[in-house]
Amino acid sequence: MESNSKIKYPHLFSPLKVRGKTYKNRMICAPIGGIAYEDHHSKPDIRNFIKYRHPGGAAGYMIGETPISPESARGFVYYDYSDPVNMSALREYVQAVKEQGPDTILTIEQMHPGEIIVDPDEEHPAVGPTGHARPDGKIVQELSEADMEKICRDFAAIALHCKTAGFDGVAPHLAHGWLFSQFLSPLVNKRTDKFGGSIENRSRFAVMVVRAIRETCGEDFLIECRVSGDEHIDGSYSLDDMCEFCRFLSQYADIIHVSAGHYRDPMNTLMMSSMYDEHGCNANVAARIKREVSIPVAVVGGINSPEIAEEIIASGKADLVVLGRQTFADPMFPAKAASGRGSEIRNCFRCMRCFPGPIDELGGPETLLPGCSASPLLEQKDTEFKPAAKQKRVLIVGGGVAGMQAAQTASDRGHSVVLVEKNRELGGILNYARHDPDKLDLKRFADAMAAETYARPIDVRLNTQLTDELLAAIAPDIVIAAIGSSPLLPPIPGLGDPSVIFAVDAYDPEIKLGERVIILGGGQVGCETAIHLSRGGKKVTLVEMRGELAPDAYRLHNKRLNALIEADVNIECLLGAACVGVSIDAGGCAVEIEQNGARRTLKADTPVAALGMKANPTDLVKRLAANCEYYAIGDCVRAAKIYDALKEGYLAASAL
Ligand SMILES: Cc1cc2nc3c(=O)[nH]c(=O)nc-3n(C[C@H](O)[C@H](O)[C@H](O)COP(=O)(O)O)c2cc1C
Ligand code: SF4
Repeated sequence: MESNSKIKYPHLFSPLKVRGKTYKNRMICAPIGGIAYEDHHSKPDIRNFIKYRHPGGAAGYMIGETPISPESARGFVYYDYSDPVNMSALREYVQAVKEQGPDTILTIEQMHPGEIIVDPDEEHPAVGPTGHARPDGKIVQELSEADMEKICRDFAAIALHCKTAGFDGVAPHLAHGWLFSQFLSPLVNKRTDKFGGSIENRSRFAVMVVRAIRETCGEDFLIECRVSGDEHIDGSYSLDDMCEFCRFLSQYADIIHVSAGHYRDPMNTLMMSSMYDEHGCNANVAARIKREVSIPVAVVGGINSPEIAEEIIASGKADLVVLGRQTFADPMFPAKAASGRGSEIRNCFRCMRCFPGPIDELGGPETLLPGCSASPLLEQKDTEFKPAAKQKRVLIVGGGVAGMQAAQTASDRGHSVVLVEKNRELGGILNYARHDPDKLDLKRFADAMAAETYARPIDVRLNTQLTDELLAAIAPDIVIAAIGSSPLLPPIPGLGDPSVIFAVDAYDPEIKLGERVIILGGGQVGCETAIHLSRGGKKVTLVEMRGELAPDAYRLHNKRLNALIEADVNIECLLGAACVGVSIDAGGCAVEIEQNGARRTLKADTPVAALGMKANPTDLVKRLAANCEYYAIGDCVRAAKIYDALKEGYLAASAL
């Protein structure tokens, strides 16, 4: 185990000593969800969450946003840790993390939202560097020096409580548009006193806080400063400013932790990178900061493979990598990388199911964490492994993600599993993603699930159709149909013409498309196909019947798709436009649409249909399985998302 990891990822698995504490490897679980999100006296959710996210052996774990005072805690819960009940709850979190890894270096993120506080009122005022009215009309009060000193004391007091409870350190949140980012940004900070103007002045408040924590908590306590290396907002601070800021912080801090962006527009500012952004998207900014400071630098952002992580550390861009969503998709990432099972890591493919957006835009903290598309286990309350009471012979028909998940779960529970797939590889419809550079993560995900499947004692039979003879030979007790879905073609005149290309096929380089393409259907698939084809040099017209694009995409992915399409001069969108007929001849295609009560004809070279998917008929499998216990899961029940397919596969196999 040890030698494998050393050979393959020697830098990722080398220890790092910081302020006398040893990170046993270079991976930290990113701050996701603070204690403040839950009533931690009555709900075990955060403890379960830690148990889920941290069995893999990352060296560090950071608990997420935790407010530092009652008045800063709107939308989050504040706990007074001078109350012994709250202190004992805090200790339980330390215990929960240390149970997963006794040598884990545990920190907690401390947060003040400043002027972007949720729904401010008298007790929870919006405060910031400069007084003004917010876009929603709420007044932001300008902080006085005395206010700032009180905030410093609050940070230091909470940090000391955390130290007493057993935390190894704290992470003042200086990123994502919260209070200290507001002081840093010349767009927000218009002060003319010693807290505004020069970068030294704009840094001063954050430095005061970090210094107060250091002075209160002593020399044996870690301080990791989370910064947005780049806010990706025009007119905000520059990278030179950021480097200067980090130099000031490094007088008292131990680690600079480089994130990016702004909470108000997380996806378009790289706070959460999307599938259209590079992996390790903050690594170059981190590298620049690292050149300017003499303390270690950590970096977060789209790191979803040990190869990327190793490259970041090996090239000296950062000293530590921070894994966010990847710890949802596969919390065993470090352990699998260490034991040479990197191909079995289910990678996060940045679909954004797990983070719909800022809580005040959604309706409360309970709307957060709606599950992970890559792992059905994240949202299970009870993840205790339950072996089957009686071993059965299970035949799964269809090797897409639903079938593979069912096969894995059934096999783990002790059943004897046969998985038959009619094609020459596992992965089902996700295999189409191999041709889209923006979706290679989806193909990698399918491959990882296939590798996990092959790593188990599952009898996988490719190029195999289910027949009476095969069923008789396998003699299953249970048959599960997981035979997926196919593109849907509504009964529109001309749409059945073989020259109409399905969106999934438009990615295939073997299929030649003309220069001008009309995509029928502006859902998520239509939008992603439009972006793909435009990037390949095509002129695209996107025809959507509804009044909006990609309503079926997860909320932040939807925003990103819309932003990309709006900025793309090669894509024209026609909303509220129904296709009423298609005709094709040697010269190209004519698509008749009805929009605003008027009809007109659009001309192009190739029509592409992105009009949804329909469940494949299960009648044959059901008939063949007449004498067995029978279930159907995934797209062949109802064409839906990867999330639904995996969840159904998992739940079906858990109940066998
Ligand atoms: C559900 C969810 C909750 C998050 N909560 C926090 C948080 O409490 N504090 C914070 O600084 N970042 C938070 N983040 C951002 C992550 O820490 C991380 O910076 C971001 O997901 C980018 O890293 P990744 O690409 O590895 O996911 C959250 C992210 C997600 C997906
Ligand atoms: S829900 Fe999507 S973005 Fe979130 S961790 Fe899972 S795969 Fe990644």
